[in-house]
Amino acid sequence: MNKIPVAVLGATGIVGQRFVQMLADHPWFEIAALVGSKRSAGRKYGEAANWVIAGDPPEGIIDMTVLGLDDVIPGRIAFSALPSSVARETEPVFAEAGFAVCSNASAYRMEADVPVIIPEVNGDHIAMLEDQRKQRNWKGLIVTSPNCTTTGMVIAMKPLHAAFGIERVFATSFQAISGAGYPGVSFLDVNDNLIPYIKGEEDKMENESLLLLGKMENGIRVPAEMVISAQANRAPVLHGHTICLSMGFKNKPSPEEAIEVLKNYRGPEAAWNLPSAPERPVIVRMEPDRPQPRRDRDTENGMVATVGRVRTCPLLDLRLVSVIHNAIRGAAGGSVLNAELLVAGGYIQ
Ligand SMILES: NC(=O)c1ccc[n+]([C@@H]2O[C@H](COP(=O)([O-])OP(=O)(O)OC[C@H]3O[C@@H](n4cnc5c(N)ncnc54)[C@H](OP(=O)(O)O)[C@@H]3O)[C@@H](O)[C@H]2O)c1
Repeated sequence: MNKIPVAVLGATGIVGQRFVQMLADHPWFEIAALVGSKRSAGRKYGEAANWVIAGDPPEGIIDMTVLGLDDVIPGRIAFSALPSSVARETEPVFAEAGFAVCSNASAYRMEADVPVIIPEVNGDHIAMLEDQRKQRNWKGLIVTSPNCTTTGMVIAMKPLHAAFGIERVFATSFQAISGAGYPGVSFLDVNDNLIPYIKGEEDKMENESLLLLGKMENGIRVPAEMVISAQANRAPVLHGHTICLSMGFKNKPSPEEAIEVLKNYRGPEAAWNLPSAPERPVIVRMEPDRPQPRRDRDTENGMVATVGRVRTCPLLDLRLVSVIHNAIRGAAGGSVLNAELLVAGGYIQ
């Protein structure tokens, strides 16, 4: 098949760099445009991007000229790693022009006709795009990926919710500094420290999870019914968010039953053979001191949630720890997987 030309919006940032890394050698997609702010437009990518990934930007990309949002931008898919305020203005313009926008920004996640998708969790919510097309009259579309911490929670919760019915959740996150974008949180603030506040994060963990775990009924998304209490903390970790979850269930599982379900979960068949999909979305570690962000975030190219410490909870029923690579599975990798799902589902010709 001819590769589909794609544009990366916000290509010079933390998430944009991960898009570049994942798309440089992708079997279905080829990078046609790298887009940045006025700070970067007109410069070579290698000079404009403060590259935070080990090594250098991929060959062939390093010398590409960064475009600005006012330039003519080629491509059929737009991967968006824009700040939310910029995404709010920009993403509909791209959708109207015929792009399939696969966004990491929070700007449209909570809109009633915009799906927020993790293919292995709720790939079937892609059906919402029929309604979006009717409502918005766009030639293209917008599909969003959830917040990075939400992704780490929900990939661990979905198998258990499907098998045992989650009713209550208490979630505490310890989030990497790269989650705040470049240049991120000041070293002087976060080193030797923990900051118990990340603006907007707890609402996203609580609200987006209900959408992701919701069901499609007669073409309408019905949010899951459960109570979630979230507390978000910034931790002195470079990449990888850690989330401690306690859960109460309709049908209480033993830790052994929960581990079996987590290990065997694959999710909807439509997600199984996508080029960037891992064999299984959850890896379970049995060691008492795993998962850890530094040791587990890159497992399966950063595309899985690594879960461990699955044990009973004296407050609710069961507790566990989940680690997710915030910039890969929690951002760029999640959006690339969504774009692959769109192609496989015939939404992008
Ligand atoms: N970091 C994570 O782990 C993570 C995870 C999930 C979701 N997200 C979301 O993904 C988005 C990007 O996050 P990030 O961490 O990559 O942020 P970042 O490092 O600050 O990067 C922001 C990018 O947007 C570009 N940009 C900023 N203002 C612009 C403007 N007015 N016009 C055009 N481009 C503009 C920047 O270009 P220049 O470099 O040229 O200025 C840069 O490429 C955000 O919405 C964030 O909430 C981030």
